[in-house]
Amino acid sequence: MDKILNIQQVSKTYQSAGRTLTVLHDINFSVDAGSTMSIVGPSGSGKTTLLGLCAGLDRSSEGFVELHNIRLNTLNEGQLAEVRNRYIGFIFQNFQLMPTLTALENVMVPLELRGEKKIRPIAMDLLDKVGLADRGHHYPSQLSGGEQQRVSLARAFSNKPQILFADEPTGSLDAETSERIIDLIFELNREAGTTLVMVTHDLDLAAKTQRIIRIKGGAIVSDQPTQAAIALQ
Ligand SMILES: Nc1ncnc2c1ncn2[C@@H]1O[C@H](COP(=O)(O)OP(=O)(O)OP(=O)(O)O)[C@@H](O)[C@H]1O
Ligand SMILES: [Mg+2]
Repeated sequence: MDKILNIQQVSKTYQSAGRTLTVLHDINFSVDAGSTMSIVGPSGSGKTTLLGLCAGLDRSSEGFVELHNIRLNTLNEGQLAEVRNRYIGFIFQNFQLMPTLTALENVMVPLELRGEKKIRPIAMDLLDKVGLADRGHHYPSQLSGGEQQRVSLARAFSNKPQILFADEPTGSLDAETSERIIDLIFELNREAGTTLVMVTHDLDLAAKTQRIIRIKGGAIVSDQPTQAAIALQ
């Protein structure tokens, strides 16, 4: 099986107020292309930081991250942006929509960056998929948290990413919307073969993926096929 992601001996430290804070240490794992997995762990355990390193949004302090055998650590900012745009979709915990662009324009940005044609109808179709066909002209500040999350999902999908990183994708959604979003995410995996790496507090959601990595205090404490991980509960 092709490895889409390979992370070896990764650590991340922050310097603040003259002190060194290690938020991730000695993280090792790799991910099969087309697979689905979850990362779970307590608040502050380093999940978002880890996802950011995997997606090339941030750099590790030690070790390396390879995406499709490309070592992200060796790339400059421009090259990194290109790799992100070509392969990666990202759903952030705090949405990260551009406040000065409408919902529709936010979804159009990755398409535009890829140099696609006829991007408006494609973006409208994606907004329709997440149930926001009539909100395309709204700015993020005019949308609820759940609606912003759905725009962010439509934007992540617009890239046709080979790998989708999702940080608490259903964090602020009601049960019904959350179910619809999860269906869309797994449909993307089934139909386009998109690899899914998801951070979640929701163990029912984690149970839908094939593998669960638990982290605690910045270290991996278990990495198992989902059935084995759930049996331990
Ligand atoms: N820029 C930064 N400077 C200093 N410390 C940071 C920085 N970013 C994150 N941290 C610290 O790193 C640790 C891990 O943060 P992270 O956001 O990865 O946690 P998390 O597991 O995603 O938590 P949550 O479940 O609450 O989202 C936290 O203790 C956080 O305070
Ligand atoms: Mg987080």
